[in-house]
Amino acid sequence: MPDLTITPLHSSLGAEIAGLDFHKPVDAETKAEVSAALSEHLVLVFRDQSFTPPEYLAVADAFGPLMRQHYSQHNMPDHPDIGIILHRDGQKPAAMWHTDHTNRERPPKATLLYGLTVPESGGETSIVNMRAAFAALPEAEQRRLETLTTLNTIDGHRTDVLPEDKEKYGKPVAHPMVRTHPEHGSKAVYFHITKAYQIEGMTSERSHAYMSGLLDRMIQPEIVYTHNWRKGDLLVIDNRATMHRAHGDYDRNQDRELWRLIVQGDRPR
Ligand code: SIN
Repeated sequence: MPDLTITPLHSSLGAEIAGLDFHKPVDAETKAEVSAALSEHLVLVFRDQSFTPPEYLAVADAFGPLMRQHYSQHNMPDHPDIGIILHRDGQKPAAMWHTDHTNRERPPKATLLYGLTVPESGGETSIVNMRAAFAALPEAEQRRLETLTTLNTIDGHRTDVLPEDKEKYGKPVAHPMVRTHPEHGSKAVYFHITKAYQIEGMTSERSHAYMSGLLDRMIQPEIVYTHNWRKGDLLVIDNRATMHRAHGDYDRNQDRELWRLIVQGDRPR
């Protein structure tokens, strides 16, 4: 079993892990240690990685079973479980706070991002601790949120969703607005503002105004970790208790290419 070094990166979330070689099979005890670190720190950073597409696909095994991503035009043709994030040809930075694929009954436990090419400056990824965001809300609002449910579908406002993806992933799915972490036991605010077309019992307009106000109040600098990319970084984000966003403020003459994997989670409760 490798000897892992886990170094926190920020007072609220994020840790760097050294000592794990993803080119060798990861044993069950190490998987459990990494999983516990993810539940605790919510974002893990592994530096100086180098993967071919098949090697990168094998990395997912340390975290869970792969899920197919739903904007299929951005999936790697020969390895469609890898989503390519490259802000060219109309692909825009995911600049809004979100957690991934909430239109799925069992949304991803984790998102893996591998920095293949990164700009000299800018283009960071920020992650916010939604467990801390929940804890900071007034108690009355915590209790109210615990009664609310979002109804989700693939983003209705986007014009680039392919008909076959809409067909496969467009069925409405309900999720609680407060999610209990299945491993950590803590509660976190859980929604994706553009996938949630409505909070049950509210108009769509009121639902979006409420979610937008919540984001404004909850997301404070002290609970945000901003990752400055280095080539070869692997970032693993716990989608069950965080939201994340991309920063599009870099020189677009430079490339920023990340490879994304998502791994299966459980049904939010
Ligand atoms: C994502 O939202 O999954 C991508 C984040 C990024 O491009 O930094």
